[in-house]
Amino acid sequence: MYSRKFSGPINEAANIISEIQSSLAAAERVFRVLHEPSEVADAYQAKELQNVKGKVAIENVSFGYTKEKTIIKNLNLNAKEGNLIAIVGPTGAGKTTIINLLMRFYDVNEGAIYIDDNEIKDLTRESLRKAYAMVLQDTWIFGGTIYENIAYGKKDATMEEVVAAAKAARIHSYIKNLPLGYDTVLNEDGMNISKGQKQLLTIARAMLLDAKMLILDEATSNVDTRTEIQIQKAMRNLMADKTCFVIAHRLSTIQSADNILVVNEGNVVEQGTHSNLMKKRGFYYRLYASQFE
Ligand SMILES: Nc1ncnc2c1ncn2[C@@H]1O[C@H](COP(=O)(O)OP(=O)(O)OP(=O)(O)O)[C@@H](O)[C@H]1O
Ligand SMILES: [Mg+2]
Repeated sequence: MYSRKFSGPINEAANIISEIQSSLAAAERVFRVLHEPSEVADAYQAKELQNVKGKVAIENVSFGYTKEKTIIKNLNLNAKEGNLIAIVGPTGAGKTTIINLLMRFYDVNEGAIYIDDNEIKDLTRESLRKAYAMVLQDTWIFGGTIYENIAYGKKDATMEEVVAAAKAARIHSYIKNLPLGYDTVLNEDGMNISKGQKQLLTIARAMLLDAKMLILDEATSNVDTRTEIQIQKAMRNLMADKTCFVIAHRLSTIQSADNILVVNEGNVVEQGTHSNLMKKRGFYYRLYASQFE
């Protein structure tokens, strides 16, 4: 008893010190968040984007993440309602950057982007982003059940809708075989499912939204080829009346695009349909040949 009386307070003191240390670390992070510069406010009297049709125009856009280095130079693009626009190019060419600009995660340095003839700077960010459904290169999953993760963008989604989306994304049979099914809790960093499964979940999430524009940035890069083909079939229905921006390294997946932007080092070096670009025997032709010959 004496020995316990003696060691108890010492242990307690040690515990308190470690708790103080972790609270200091947490406080430091809280202040780091508070000191982050906030996003530039929406323009004065910004409009809500309503009844989206899906016409997108990019005019003379230049952009760099830092002043020293321009990444996108003088980009022009016209997408009609329901068009499929593919963006291809080597790693680091600036494909994801174009998507970041469309969603207005960053503001352009020069030029302008229009949706249905509204410059996106004059729209509220919320309504702009609601107009898109997206599957991005880095998938994100939050701590919560599978059901909640799929239903994320649609607050009133029913179980049937979620299951239908999961079926279309070819993840339903996996979920069904889990002991808790759709109530399985995923942890924040998504450590308890594979990368491909994470991608399928985010695809199901996008399928549930009924947005007029769709962005797929390497959406199926971590999925096996057979599943990829099945998803593409399901995607085709989903994409039917939407304006789609698709980034793919596997060129076989984008041959039917209305317009292919070939990006290299931030410049759009070529633009056109698959057959036109093949006839040209330029950058796209070489890229294609390197994958198939
Ligand atoms: N947040 C950022 N801040 C600064 N520079 C960035 C940022 N994101 C990307 N870059 C730079 O912009 C360039 C283009 O990047 P981007 O992500 O658009 O490439 P990508 O074409 O999508 O490549 P990948 O095929 O690998 O996805 C790269 O050189 C990269 O270093
Ligand atoms: Mg990218």
